[in-house]
Amino acid sequence: MKPLERYDGTVERTIYTDAEIASAIDRLAAEIASDFRGQPLLLLGVLKGALYAVTDLARAIARVPEGPSEIIVDYICVSSYGNATRSSGEVRLLKDTTETVTGRNVVIVEDIVDNGLTLEYLTALMAERKPALLRSCVLFDKPYHRRVDVPVEYVGLQCPDEFVVGYGLDYQELFRNLPYLAQLQPWVFQAE
Ligand code: PRP
Repeated sequence: MKPLERYDGTVERTIYTDAEIASAIDRLAAEIASDFRGQPLLLLGVLKGALYAVTDLARAIARVPEGPSEIIVDYICVSSYGNATRSSGEVRLLKDTTETVTGRNVVIVEDIVDNGLTLEYLTALMAERKPALLRSCVLFDKPYHRRVDVPVEYVGLQCPDEFVVGYGLDYQELFRNLPYLAQLQPWVFQAE
């Protein structure tokens, strides 16, 4: 089955349109560009979910006049054990950074923070490497599910208490390439 055919009729409702997401990215970019004006910045995208968030954010920061002196993008890949729709909080490191973190200004970029255990794991891992400054940014936040009090300095959009897909977020690896954030029809979860 081709992905496009599979997506037809699967979306229950759009939660944030691509324009609303772009606007949130621009706002986050303005905040980050201002805070790191004239300084080098390492954006650390958390794969796979943040694949679009970090690339769009990096380009949006570059459009801000008088932003960071340089922007380097790197990736780390983690995955949580869990069922199809909720993570367990047990994090596996699948790919480490290629850039050195020590002495750098680092902003971890997440697509979503839910119970917060993934970000807590990554924050602790990066902090051990003694960055000059370590902050985190989330595009879609679910603060009401937190199991740990992990700081998030840059928050894009509040995410409703639904299982959401699109703009990097998946259901069984599908739907990441939807350009907007969506809630799926209930039958999609029963069809597998
Ligand atoms: C998702 C998401 C975050 C994490 C957030 O990743 O991208 O990294 O879960 O959940 P938490 O706050 O409850 O820990 P996932 O493990 O599903 O992998 P993926 O990014 O490859 O989809």
